[in-house]
Amino acid sequence: MTFVYPRESTKVHPPRPFPDYKSTVRRSPTKPLVIMPHTRSELTGPVYGHEAVQRGDDDLTSHGKSGEPLGERIIVHGRVLDEDDRPVPSALVEVWQANACGRYIHQVDQHPAPLDPNFVGAGRVVTDQNGYYKFITVKPGPYPWGNHPNAWRPAHIHFSVFGHSFLSRLVTQMYFPGDPLFPFDPIFNAVSDPKARDRMVSSFDLDHGVPDWALCYRWDIVLRGRNQTPMER
Ligand SMILES: [Fe+2]
Repeated sequence: MTFVYPRESTKVHPPRPFPDYKSTVRRSPTKPLVIMPHTRSELTGPVYGHEAVQRGDDDLTSHGKSGEPLGERIIVHGRVLDEDDRPVPSALVEVWQANACGRYIHQVDQHPAPLDPNFVGAGRVVTDQNGYYKFITVKPGPYPWGNHPNAWRPAHIHFSVFGHSFLSRLVTQMYFPGDPLFPFDPIFNAVSDPKARDRMVSSFDLDHGVPDWALCYRWDIVLRGRNQTPMER
């Protein structure tokens, strides 16, 4: 694993203030960032959370009190990679998402879609020696948000990945192929490079679904470097 993280690679990320995404204007720093040189402490750890992963945390359909959640059951899988396409083993991958109706269990989300008592919408897993991860979940629905009139988020799953150090943490969103909301979503389009936007979109993977049970989507995550998966600002 290389410990050299070229700053050039960070250009893939969306700009901090992106006026079309209204809340970024209020959240963004107004002064230039102070660049801190990487030292051994940033490059070698510590990271946390791995030890808390329990059996079954990777199956978001298994956390209900009275059965499975409603919606389209799907498998999401892929690999966590470094900039040279090498697998990142033992990376902590955490996900959170809306239910099949596009509703989060969160005080702030009060839009008129039903909650699902059998869906919490959070899971986690640690990658294996090949950098591989897999979740079972339901396909999230799109949801409205108050950014602009008739604003809807494309269906997405939030991902947080801790690689081998804090500097290889990535917080991002995975989208589904062919979503008609892509052209209208300021968060998706805050990533200006079309190739980088494509790296946020999973691919339909019929071969790795389970017949009569679940369809599958494949999504590889690149933590740093020239092919980095864009960060959510
Ligand atoms: Fe979301």
